[in-house]
Amino acid sequence: MTGTTRPPVTLATLRRMKREGERIAMLTAYDASFAARLDAAGVDVVLVGDSLGMVVQGQATTVPVTVDHMVYHTACVSRGAGAMLVMADMPFLSFRDPAHALDNAARLMQEGGAHMVKLEGGRDVLPVIEALAGNGIPVCGHIGLQPQSIHKLGAYRVQGRGPEAAEALREAARAVAAAGADLLLMECVPAALAAEITAQAAVPTIGIGAGPGCDGQVLVLYDLLGITPGPVPRFAADFLTGRDGGIAGALQAWVEAVKAGTFPGPEHAFQ
Ligand code: KIV
Repeated sequence: MTGTTRPPVTLATLRRMKREGERIAMLTAYDASFAARLDAAGVDVVLVGDSLGMVVQGQATTVPVTVDHMVYHTACVSRGAGAMLVMADMPFLSFRDPAHALDNAARLMQEGGAHMVKLEGGRDVLPVIEALAGNGIPVCGHIGLQPQSIHKLGAYRVQGRGPEAAEALREAARAVAAAGADLLLMECVPAALAAEITAQAAVPTIGIGAGPGCDGQVLVLYDLLGITPGPVPRFAADFLTGRDGGIAGALQAWVEAVKAGTFPGPEHAFQ
């Protein structure tokens, strides 16, 4: 598939954007056709999220998603990604130690065409991040709410509330970056805490339910299009319903809102 003619988005692009205060727009996609639409709308990073377990496969959680599923969808997305940086999620237990993480990240990059992998966890995954980074694999850390741990957590809740939990999150952010992560995703974190972590972080941060003070924003594409069945999280927003321009218009409007800092609004953030 052919993409847009803008220069490819790289890690250097994302670092420059943080330095210059240009917000990063990241969305999930799971196939080539939607990836091409994201590219045309000017999305910077496409995430092949393990959310595909829920929004594509109809599973109740992301836990059943396998490395084979991720490789298949990452390869589909890569064919339509154009200039976007392609990030692939490492699914449940695929990074339980450095050896498994290296083998599975290699598959996501070599068979799937990913430029970067994302993995959930804080201090517990530092040896894995070090091993990946030490082998030239770009890594995005994912802290705050970690949906792969849902059976341990019991519910999808805001993380980092209260002084001790906030300090643990600050410490996780520092440690993940120091271990070699190039990007840090924060999910369901109080807005003020996410803004503070962003101001101190050496690497760009991406928020989902983490307020407007992050260096970039991500949403699940099907939430943005209003087609996720059942209840959607408070931080999600439907940009399609009631707007002219169809899917292309919805994507364009979301990218513009992220770049202008008008998304997320206070109604999408947590205190
Ligand atoms: O799997 C996914 O789509 C994600 C986002 C919710 C950040 O990890």
